Amino acid sequence: MDTMTNAAKPTIRFYSPDGTLHEVEGLIHDTVMDAAMDNDIPGILADCGGQAECGTCHVYVDEASFPLVGEASGYEAETLEDVKAERLPTSRLSCQLRIRPDFDGFTVRIAPRQV
Ligand code: FES
Repeated sequence: MDTMTNAAKPTIRFYSPDGTLHEVEGLIHDTVMDAAMDNDIPGILADCGGQAECGTCHVYVDEASFPLVGEASGYEAETLEDVKAERLPTSRLSCQLRIRPDFDGFTVRIAPRQV
């Protein structure tokens, strides 16, 4: 597979709370939540459809991937105050993480509970 293909469809990696790895192709401009929903990744509920309101798409961004996105801010940070699983410094709402070409290998751990 050449690098152009990877850039067009970066691989997004989801670890379930039990450690199971799911690797999917993401689409540029979609969100990480979209990639999860399109591929039936368990544990991402996305009840509000990506409006940063429900907090049920909570993930922990892997340390190596975190510099690509940084900490949550604004409305997202407020919503993260009410998530059901522990909030960590690397907590993000996956619906607010827009996939870019440099996201190939972007890795998150799905929060152990969303509701
Ligand atoms: Fe509701 Fe992300 S889908 S906060």
